[in-house]
Amino acid sequence: MKALSIIPLTTLAAASALQQYLHEASNSQASLSSSSKPLVDSKALQDHITSDKLLKRANKLFEIAQLGVEEYNHPTRVIGSDGHVGTLDYIYSTLAGLGDYYEVSNQSFEAVVGNIFESRLVLGDGEPKSATPMSLTPPTKNKDAVFGPLVLVANEGCDASDYPSNTTGSIALIKRGVCAFGDKSAAAGKAGAIAAVVYNSEKGSLSGTLGEPSKYHVATFGLSNEDAQEFIRKLQDGKLIPSSAYIDSIVHKAPTTNIIAQTKGGDQNNCVMLGGHSDSVAEGPGINDDGSGSISLLEVATHLVNYSVQNCVRFAWWAGEEEGLLGSDYYVSQLSEKENLKIRLFMDYDMMASPNYAYQVYNATNALNPTGSEELRDLYIDFYKSHNQNYTFIPFDGRSDYDAFIKNGIPGGGIATGAEGIKTKDEVEMFGGSAGQWYDPCYHQLCDTVDNCNFDAWVINTKLIAHSVATYAVSFKGFPERTGVSSNAQGEESLYHGPKLVM
Ligand SMILES: *[C@@H]1O[C@H](CO)[C@@H](O)[C@H](O)[C@H]1NC(C)=O
Ligand SMILES: *[C@@H]1O[C@H](CO)[C@@H](O)[C@H](O)[C@H]1NC(C)=O
Ligand SMILES: *[C@@H]1O[C@H](CO)[C@@H](O)[C@H](O)[C@H]1NC(C)=O
Ligand SMILES: *[C@@H]1O[C@H](CO)[C@@H](O)[C@H](O)[C@H]1NC(C)=O
Ligand SMILES: *[C@@H]1O[C@H](CO)[C@@H](O)[C@H](O)[C@H]1NC(C)=O
Ligand SMILES: [Zn+2]
Repeated sequence: MKALSIIPLTTLAAASALQQYLHEASNSQASLSSSSKPLVDSKALQDHITSDKLLKRANKLFEIAQLGVEEYNHPTRVIGSDGHVGTLDYIYSTLAGLGDYYEVSNQSFEAVVGNIFESRLVLGDGEPKSATPMSLTPPTKNKDAVFGPLVLVANEGCDASDYPSNTTGSIALIKRGVCAFGDKSAAAGKAGAIAAVVYNSEKGSLSGTLGEPSKYHVATFGLSNEDAQEFIRKLQDGKLIPSSAYIDSIVHKAPTTNIIAQTKGGDQNNCVMLGGHSDSVAEGPGINDDGSGSISLLEVATHLVNYSVQNCVRFAWWAGEEEGLLGSDYYVSQLSEKENLKIRLFMDYDMMASPNYAYQVYNATNALNPTGSEELRDLYIDFYKSHNQNYTFIPFDGRSDYDAFIKNGIPGGGIATGAEGIKTKDEVEMFGGSAGQWYDPCYHQLCDTVDNCNFDAWVINTKLIAHSVATYAVSFKGFPERTGVSSNAQGEESLYHGPKLVM
């Protein structure tokens, strides 16, 4: 699950024109190639799901996360790490081991990988509280503290002429606005600054990203307007403010990979698609987020092979979800209209086993989302009801990999068990657990290990996934036809896509 963003973000213009989709009925014959296998059946597929099998894969995934220790000093499966490479190998080799039931493919794309380990900004004799290193900032020289006077840059620091000649060797203090943070950082770098501080032009602290890396970027912090004012006044009075900056970070471009597996059997023009994300955050091994969803998908994919399907089933393991839904965004952006229309729906499975769980169903409705999203939501509700379980609705607000799908006309939905939200007393009556605590107290932390997972919730939710796959693999009867490739929620704020606030 992507971290909550605390800053207002750009609006995504959903601009593509609505196209009429003519359903190619003549192309939709079901494949009969695997007719010796029984047609998949929900109950039969669910019966294969056991806690032992999930545990075995979870232990394996934690072992893989330990490949990240050498570079990160702790287990992680963040993109660019050996833990993530190991995860991809594990997913791919598991699928390859299933024979020729699936067409397995890699979709590679370039992702900018950044990680900030430590930072410190000292201005005069104070450490401003609001100082926050910008995402994708390079480190200070040699990852050591650098020292220089604070120098006030004219205007918004977008032009070379805004930088006084004594910027060389200094820390440049720059006002927000007019051009991107990355442009300011590069301009400061070209003027010889050893670091840059961008202060907010509005109320509040300033966290943003430098975006696409540049060799001219210098270590850059954001600062609140309130914190900046006293320093601006002193500089305008001609006072000297000896300062120091320190950022230990890495930033580089790394190729990464989505893995896609599609049944060779079933109507290839009508697919049910589902996905989880293969990456974790840098802070920990991510066994619940989203090792759990990735493993659930692998288990369901493994057991599906002994059944035939009438519609095609397409599994996806996305990369770069934690960096801003990069993999799923890229995947959907590469679909032609024809390919887009073959996906009848997309189901997102991110965080299936939170320790202090609730059964959360995304409140996806047809009023705000592509038609069919609500039918999918109701399938989940029926599932929990038929298993005598309670459930809650949570906002369908773009916080995971379904977002690119629903923005491009594909019905979507999913379930989760909760991240850093706080469990209420009522929810304790519904699900057990502890009130007043996070659903996942180890969310995005080092302690998101195998022990962090609740296997009761994980088994139920993996059965739900099996049910959703089996249902649509058999038939789309009663499920709305696709109508177009544009969103019916145009102009909605797009909160969680990378690279977030850039100006
Ligand atoms: C696909 O990616 C996986 C994981 O990185 C790798 O192990 C496998 O060799 C790749 N396969 C192909 C055909 O490129
Ligand atoms: C840098 O130069 C400006 C004038 O261009 C001056 O006001 C400022 O005090 C100087 N700062 C330092 C630290 O020398
Ligand atoms: C599928 O069936 C084959 C042949 O009966 C069996 O060997 C294999 O273990 C089954 N696969 C799974 C995942 O149960
Ligand atoms: C679900 O979303 C609809 C709008 O699409 C809203 O009217 C309804 O109140 C929401 N339900 C819950 C429980 O959040
Ligand atoms: C569902 O919630 C109710 C309270 O709203 C509770 O009494 C019941 O035990 C819960 N069911 C389960 C299976 O936990
Ligand atoms: Zn996450």
